[in-house]
Amino acid sequence: MLLKSKIALVTGASKGIGRGIALALAKQGCSVVISDIDDAALKNVEAEITLLGVKVLAVKCDVSQKDQVDNMINKTKEFFGGLDILVNNAGIYPFKSFTEITENDWDRVLSVNLKSVFLCSQKSLEIMSNGGSIINISSIASLVGFNSLTHYCASKGAVNSMIRALALEVADRKIRVNAVAPGSIETPGANNPDENIKKQTISMIPLARMGQAEDIAGAVVFLASDLSSYITGQVIVVDGGWTLR
Ligand SMILES: NC(=O)c1ccc[n+]([C@@H]2O[C@H](COP(=O)([O-])OP(=O)(O)OC[C@H]3O[C@@H](n4cnc5c(N)ncnc54)[C@H](O)[C@@H]3O)[C@@H](O)[C@H]2O)c1
Repeated sequence: MLLKSKIALVTGASKGIGRGIALALAKQGCSVVISDIDDAALKNVEAEITLLGVKVLAVKCDVSQKDQVDNMINKTKEFFGGLDILVNNAGIYPFKSFTEITENDWDRVLSVNLKSVFLCSQKSLEIMSNGGSIINISSIASLVGFNSLTHYCASKGAVNSMIRALALEVADRKIRVNAVAPGSIETPGANNPDENIKKQTISMIPLARMGQAEDIAGAVVFLASDLSSYITGQVIVVDGGWTLR
């Protein structure tokens, strides 16, 4: 068990990559705070984690809202006394061509994907122990362009830049700040029922398969654990080789 007696918080943990990360951390003996806007699905994940025999706290939270983020971190402090690992996972990726993106669309994507990282990281640092780890779920869209995702690409590129600066600021507390940049991962949010599109996507991936939430969770467990104790300010790409060509 790599994370026994550690406490982690995962945002957007009701489904997809966030759920996979929360379960993987729990399997390593970690107590977990799970949060999401989807309260009903969060309850199911809470039950799954309880079955693994670790402590779990579920808190409904929209990560773009400061009062809700403050409440989530205050509840974490009340229940567990502190925090070792923060995983900023919650994110949205609504496809829209650049000329059709409204100011509201832009603000929403930047709030959920970027402002949330500021809000959650700043408040968490108040209760984080020395030697902690902050892990942000970025995207390969921070490194290469994708049609109809200009606002999303901008938000994830900014996350990569932000973690390098934050890593410098908190290094004296031995807190490490890194990001994982997933490629194409099969999740409820990314699901496309069109088999042809799926085949086309797989044809672009050297390892010839879509990624699973567990593929991202493995990198997150590594970055959360002492196995990565000399790694900070880095973006680890987990994409089956997509961005190699
Ligand atoms: N799936 C992919 O192919 C892929 C690729 C690269 C990066 N990512 C990133 O991984 C993360 C998770 O993506 P996913 O595919 O699992 O998405 P998903 O839509 O399957 O799940 C996202 C979860 O986040 C929650 N959420 C949405 N807005 C929220 C908010 N404002 N506050 C709190 N929770 C909120 C949703 O309710 C949902 O449970 C995102 O940051 C996404 O950008 C995904």
